[in-house]
Amino acid sequence: MYAPSELKTIPSHVAIIMDGNGRWARKRGLPRVMGHREGVKRVREVVRAAREIGIRVLTLYAFSQENWRRPQAEVSALMDLLQSYLVSQLDEMLSNRISLRAMGDLARLPETVGNTLRDTIERTSGNSEMILNLALSYSGRHEIAQAAKRIAADCLDGSISPGDVDEELFSSYLFTADYPDPDLVVRTSGELRLSNFMLFQAAYSELYITPVLWPDFNRQEFMKALMDLQGRERRFGMTSEQLKPCTVNGS
Ligand code: FPP
Repeated sequence: MYAPSELKTIPSHVAIIMDGNGRWARKRGLPRVMGHREGVKRVREVVRAAREIGIRVLTLYAFSQENWRRPQAEVSALMDLLQSYLVSQLDEMLSNRISLRAMGDLARLPETVGNTLRDTIERTSGNSEMILNLALSYSGRHEIAQAAKRIAADCLDGSISPGDVDEELFSSYLFTADYPDPDLVVRTSGELRLSNFMLFQAAYSELYITPVLWPDFNRQEFMKALMDLQGRERRFGMTSEQLKPCTVNGS
């Protein structure tokens, strides 16, 4: 059992690809939606843990643009779960001073979910302890393409010039403009892919891939991922020697 006090460094931004709900259900002979339902419980548990630990931004990949291609009944069930999650968690977000944000092609969400989402974002916007950022109808490539489109438009209207375009400016056109890049990207259920998730922002993120299916990814599993990060050296392209603190006279 790991305790938050064992963490030497607390990542500023953790992003999670929640995968394996369907397999969890299938293993039990249950309909897929039961896996998603159990998955929502882990969302609550991990959000609470992240808030307690002091993580500033938690991004959860809840629904990709590609997920719209799933059977209509499953898409509806996921939208219903999202709607009831938002309604049921508002009080907790307010009392724990969590600010809800969302990124993705939100116009595609059903009207009720879109309205509840906007309302929750607005009502929690004054909270500053933690940002819970839900990736909904999200695609990393689409995000990059829309940033490029807006940059081109701003070049045309003269508010920026092509020479201004660098990595920092580009980042400021992404959904995540206000947040640091993720220090850690977690993926459950063992697949070795990014699945179109935060393609620009995850350039230097540490990856933690676990075979544990999302509905089994409890607080302890989350702690394990954070503990795993502790032992890693993030070099950002430099050498280990460059990262070591300078020593004077061997001290
Ligand atoms: C992937 O499992 C999971 C999803 C597509 C949805 C994730 C959604 C939740 C955890 C619940 C709703 C979220 C919130 C924030 C309330 P999968 O269905 O692809 O699993 P499989 O690969 O085993 O089939």
